[in-house]
Amino acid sequence: MTILVTGGAGYIGAHVVLALLDAGEDVVVLDDLSTGDRASLPGSARLVVGDVGDRDLVGRVLDEAGIAEIVHLAAKVIVPVSVVDPLGYYEANTGKTRALLEVAVAAGVSRLVFSSTAAVYGVPDTHLVSEDHVPAPINPYGRSKLMSEWMIADAARAHGLSFVILRYFNVAGADPHGRAGQSTPDATHLVKVACQTALGQRPHLAIYGNDFGTPDGTGIRDYVHVSDLADAHRAALGHLREGGESLVLNAGYGHGVSVREVIDSVRRVSGVDIPVMSAPRRAGDPDALIADASRLRQRFAWSPRHDDLDQIIAQALSWERRLMGS
Ligand code: UD1
Repeated sequence: MTILVTGGAGYIGAHVVLALLDAGEDVVVLDDLSTGDRASLPGSARLVVGDVGDRDLVGRVLDEAGIAEIVHLAAKVIVPVSVVDPLGYYEANTGKTRALLEVAVAAGVSRLVFSSTAAVYGVPDTHLVSEDHVPAPINPYGRSKLMSEWMIADAARAHGLSFVILRYFNVAGADPHGRAGQSTPDATHLVKVACQTALGQRPHLAIYGNDFGTPDGTGIRDYVHVSDLADAHRAALGHLREGGESLVLNAGYGHGVSVREVIDSVRRVSGVDIPVMSAPRRAGDPDALIADASRLRQRFAWSPRHDDLDQIIAQALSWERRLMGS
């Protein structure tokens, strides 16, 4: 059985591919390499360079490889860019998901795992967010993913597809064996920026807001190790293969840390007293956003193996060092 992973050369996608290959699965990656990196894929993964919205290409790949399962991650993911280019985001994330669904249904694909985001919740009125919280995204990125969720559920109902939608919280860290990591040059993620600052690649780290309603005033997020997240995709396919019902699940650990706690960890692990400065809040940043992740743990044979902030930071730092050396 061959699994198609769209966006498999990206940061999260490459870790999903590793998790599947490590579990003995056969994988074909479809990636346009617009942000993905061929080098992040192990030799045993077949790569088709192309667009997930290209119906002819996708149809051929599904046919030739006899694919019955898709893990769909290909997307544009930068929230502020989605605000200035909403139509580009709706096309890349929603339009192309629709195209993929059409081809997948025609080819008889029976299982789909979809990469969604906590951004579908917007700015929730509670810190711990369960899947029952009514989605209210506040930017085109979140809306483009929520619309995709709805399309998937509708298409599944009509065409006998089963699916798991994973709503990612804050993904961080790198493969513990150093095989993959976050390679995007201008990434804005806190963990990556803090690690680059520790390694002297940035002059300082800006703390966006220190007057949030949290114990130390800085924003709290649920940072999930990318390899644990990747493993949740493997578990999702396992659940569907056993005939499990379609699900929408938060993917996080269920606890959060503040920006200051992340900085303390980077200082502890790197031994560098990274320079920080205060900066205004970013628009739309909630005080705290933590996954109620109980459903993920209950439904799947999944338990995190890397739920440790210092480990996440140590592996993110190793990856940054590796990037500097290459
Ligand atoms: C992240 C995702 C976003 C997703 C959202 C869902 C990234 C880049 N973004 O957003 O796609 O939709 O989760 O919840 O992964 N911070 C600083 N200084 C910095 C960078 C960040 O203080 O230089 C703070 C932010 O204000 C925030 C926290 O660190 O409190 C995390 O920010 P960031 O890593 O950008 O992720 P989110 O904005 O939470």
